Amino acid sequence: TSQVVQVNGGQSLTADNTANSTMMPVTKRSPKDYIFGKVIGEGSYSTVYLAKDIHTNREHAIKVCQKKQIIRENKRDQVKREKDALNVLSNSGSSFFVKLYCTFQDTERLYFVMSYAKNGDMLPYINKVGSFDAACTRFYSGEILRALEHLHDLNIMHRDLKPENILLDHNLHIKVADFGCSKILEQPDTADKSILNENNPRPRSNSFVGTAQYVSPELLTEKTISPSSDLWALGCIIYQMIAGLPPFRSRSEYMLFRKILNLDYVYPDGFNADAKDLVQKLLVLDPNERLGSKDTQRYTSIRSHPFYKGLDFDTLHLTNPPPIY
Ligand code: ADE
Repeated sequence: TSQVVQVNGGQSLTADNTANSTMMPVTKRSPKDYIFGKVIGEGSYSTVYLAKDIHTNREHAIKVCQKKQIIRENKRDQVKREKDALNVLSNSGSSFFVKLYCTFQDTERLYFVMSYAKNGDMLPYINKVGSFDAACTRFYSGEILRALEHLHDLNIMHRDLKPENILLDHNLHIKVADFGCSKILEQPDTADKSILNENNPRPRSNSFVGTAQYVSPELLTEKTISPSSDLWALGCIIYQMIAGLPPFRSRSEYMLFRKILNLDYVYPDGFNADAKDLVQKLLVLDPNERLGSKDTQRYTSIRSHPFYKGLDFDTLHLTNPPPIY
C-alpha cells in the first residue's frame, strides 16, 4: 500500500502524488486483494473465477485473460469492446447487467472484477425443465426486452445474445453478460442506412461475430450493423424458452445458415399462440420490418403485443420472478 503523507493545508497526497480527499491511500487493486475460488465460466480466451474481496468479504466474478493468448488469438478488439461496454453500462445504473467494479493487470494477465450472478446462466434452466411456462417466458423475455431497451438507448448492440449469456442473480433476476462481441454505435439512426455505404461501396468484411444459432440473416448477408439484430436473437430466445430448443438447428454451420436465410423452422404442437405471433414478428428477414425496429423510445410495439398483456415492464426488477417450470 502506498503511504499517505500530509502536506500543507491538510490536503492528503499518496506517495505517488495522487490527490486523495478521503485520506485513504489510492492504490490500484491487485490479485492479492481477492481470494480466488472455483472456476465459474470459461470463454475462448478467458476464465471466470468466483473470488472474495478480502476487504469487504463480498463475492465477485473475476474474468481473467492471458495476455499472450489475447495477442496470439488476436482478441484485443474483443477485450476492449467488453471493457468499454461494461464501463458505460456500469455507470448507467441498470440492474439488468453484470457490473464491472474494477480492472487491473499483472505481467501475464488482465483481470475484470464483476458482479457475481449466483444462479449461473439461463440455459440449464431451459434445458432442465424442457421449457418455461407462459408466465415464466413472459417475465424473463420481458426482463431481456428491458435490458435491450437500455442497451440500445445507450447505442450499444450486444450481438451475442443467447441463454448462456443471460445470468441469474441471487433473486433470479437477469444480468446480461459477455460483451466481447458488443459494438458501441456512433450514429444510431444512420448506422444502418445506405448513405454510409455510398462512401464505402465495398461490403464490410466484418468478421462473423456472435453464436451461429442466434445470428441474424442480415449479419450473414449484408453484414449491416443495427440494434435490430438483437431483436432477432430475442425472437430465437423466446422460441427456445417455450420449445426447449432454439428455432434453427443443424449439424453443419452451412446448413444452419441456409435455414436462417430461408426462415426454415417450425413451431411444435401446443406452442402458445400469442408467443407464436410475437416470435413470427421478430424472426423477420428484413431487420427494418422486425417488430420494434421502428420504435424510437422503448420497444413500445413489443411491450404492447398481446403476449405481454397485463405485464408491468417498469416494475419487473422489483417483482418476484415466477417459479421456473
Ligand atoms: N460466469 C461468467 N460470468 C459470471 C458472473 N458474472 N457470475 C456468475 N457466473 C458467471
